[in-house]
Amino acid sequence: MNSLKVEIRPVTPPDVPAISALAREIWQASYPGIITQEQIDFMLEQRYGHERLYDDLEDLHKWLDQAFLGDRRVGFAFSEIYKGEFKLDKLYIHPDVQRQGVGGQLITHVAARAKKEGYPCVVLAVNKRNEKAINSYKKYGFVVREAIVDDIGHGYVMDDFVMEKKL
Ligand SMILES: CC(C)(COP(=O)(O)OP(=O)(O)OC[C@H]1O[C@@H](n2cnc3c(N)ncnc32)[C@H](O)[C@@H]1OP(=O)(O)O)[C@@H](O)C(=O)NCCC(=O)NCCS
Repeated sequence: MNSLKVEIRPVTPPDVPAISALAREIWQASYPGIITQEQIDFMLEQRYGHERLYDDLEDLHKWLDQAFLGDRRVGFAFSEIYKGEFKLDKLYIHPDVQRQGVGGQLITHVAARAKKEGYPCVVLAVNKRNEKAINSYKKYGFVVREAIVDDIGHGYVMDDFVMEKKL
């Protein structure tokens, strides 16, 4: 694998519009065929609306990291304390630079934080049909813990595997 070395920086309020736009770009490239366009639009608004991101930035139990290649923002990872566990909540890499080690560097960064915070593992939820992501999580040491179906409102569900990586 050709590895691209990225610089990882915290997201700050002025970054919010760019993160929201990057999320839309990556979601549109990734999720058609896995979930409907209506669900993509609903989830983007619910999770990446500007006000939601500003709120996330103020939450002391959430960390928002972004990855840069030079001046170019190429991905992001959000992590949080969720139900008493350390969760990798979002991991998105621009399609142009996928499969070049950027996701792996963000996972390493988040796992180091979880360990420093004293947690025994990192957990995440991934759509059961998102094979690319499941493979990449396996590559970085995650294993499937359980299958869940989570009601996210408006008639939509998340049909996910919960995966965990021991630290
Ligand atoms: C899943 C994702 C975060 C992985 O990040 P990445 O930077 O591409 O991953 P890395 O380069 O660090 O790891 C590569 C591994 O991921 C998997 N992978 C990534 N892209 C893949 C592809 N197009 N086809 C098959 N496997 C792929 C493989 O296991 C690969 O290892 P290999 O190259 O040795 O076979 C990234 O591909 C992505 O953003 N995908 C779209 C959004 C998404 O699904 N996010 C996860 C939501 S839970």
